[in-house]
Amino acid sequence: MARDVKIDNMSVVFGTKMQRKAAIELLDEDMTADEIREETGATVAVKNLSIEIEEGELFVIVGLSGSGKSSLIRTLNLLNRPARGTITVGGQDLTELSSSGLRSYRRNDASMVFQNFALLSHRTVMQNVEYPLEVQGVAREKRRQTAQDAIDLVGLSGWENHMPNQLSGGMRQRVGLARALTNDPELLLMDEPYSALDPLIRRNMQDELLKLEDEMDRTILFITHDMNEAFRLGDRIALMKDAEIVQIGTPDEFFDKPASDYVRDFIADVDKTRILKVRSIMHRPGYVAKLGDSVKETREALKERDMDFCYVTDKNRKFQGYIRFEDLQKSRGQTINKLVNEDDTVIYRNAYLREAWHKLKEAEYDLPVVDGKGRLRGVLDYNVVVEALAD
Ligand SMILES: Nc1ncnc2c1ncn2[C@@H]1O[C@H](COP(=O)(O)OP(=O)(O)OP(=O)(O)O)[C@@H](O)[C@H]1O
Ligand SMILES: [Mg+2]
Repeated sequence: MARDVKIDNMSVVFGTKMQRKAAIELLDEDMTADEIREETGATVAVKNLSIEIEEGELFVIVGLSGSGKSSLIRTLNLLNRPARGTITVGGQDLTELSSSGLRSYRRNDASMVFQNFALLSHRTVMQNVEYPLEVQGVAREKRRQTAQDAIDLVGLSGWENHMPNQLSGGMRQRVGLARALTNDPELLLMDEPYSALDPLIRRNMQDELLKLEDEMDRTILFITHDMNEAFRLGDRIALMKDAEIVQIGTPDEFFDKPASDYVRDFIADVDKTRILKVRSIMHRPGYVAKLGDSVKETREALKERDMDFCYVTDKNRKFQGYIRFEDLQKSRGQTINKLVNEDDTVIYRNAYLREAWHKLKEAEYDLPVVDGKGRLRGVLDYNVVVEALAD
């Protein structure tokens, strides 16, 4: 189960106690972080920041060096304590956790992947990956199995007994990721995990992360200073500058309505067709029927909404096909099951628009969009795609 994250009017301030106190008093004044530093000597690394991240969302924070990204992500496991404001994860206010509550939260609920891998050099891949479970006192058998699953998931099967120094940078990063996954975290925190990798490996890792996200259904907070990476990965992105957020939105919204010249400059080098994904511009399906629903109920639902067809899923949201209003009207059956038509126009939500373009041109209807498990996640409308790609 993924968890949602709510950060409300949160600030992180560094300095002596006196400096911090003086700076906190100025947070509500109309002053930049720089101006507060000049006045008080304290560094305001995150200033009055609010973000809501949905369950299962891959949320990216992007910004130049020193803009406050690490300071922000480190508050999510309280490696940094907020000077003020609240951080709530799955309904729990982090600052109110007792010390044992915090320990349990860090062990079980949130995992961090660091930029510099932070592997234990004298331990094998397997021993590195099972380390968090060892700390938790999980029995050997069980922890081996869990670690093996994580190793398989990141594509390192066969490397279990190698030492970190026998691996390439990309493989080490995958060990770090596998380790972060062993305790099945509901929140995955990734601070510039791919910055040290060369472009090709980096791209592979990005693809793997997207695949993982699909399979795992976790909330992921990902930090990068690379706008292309941010747009490739993020469901939504927040651009930070000088401890504050300049803009939050989907990739599409950044292109559509850049909030300032700063944003416009920041995205100038990004190639839209290569980074805009189906998921970034799909919309929610209207009425969706489930296998086993009654003909009468479905017919009425469609009639009410003036729809001439709707999509059908099973009870796990797995996409089954579509059903026509016309057929519902003629039917004498009880359930809709026999009326479901197959649909081979499904597209994968992480496909780039370029890849979906072909199917879209031929389709008469909106296209159903599914995730890696085949669950219906949205629909894609031809006109919306044309508008998104137009300058
Ligand atoms: N522990 C600390 N003590 C004092 N100042 C700090 C501390 N950590 C960060 N800062 C300051 O806070 C500001 C934001 O730093 P932060 O590390 O959050 O930036 P960043 O966006 O992660 O940068 P980068 O891309 O280089 O990692 C900087 O001015 C930095 O000097
Ligand atoms: Mg950083």
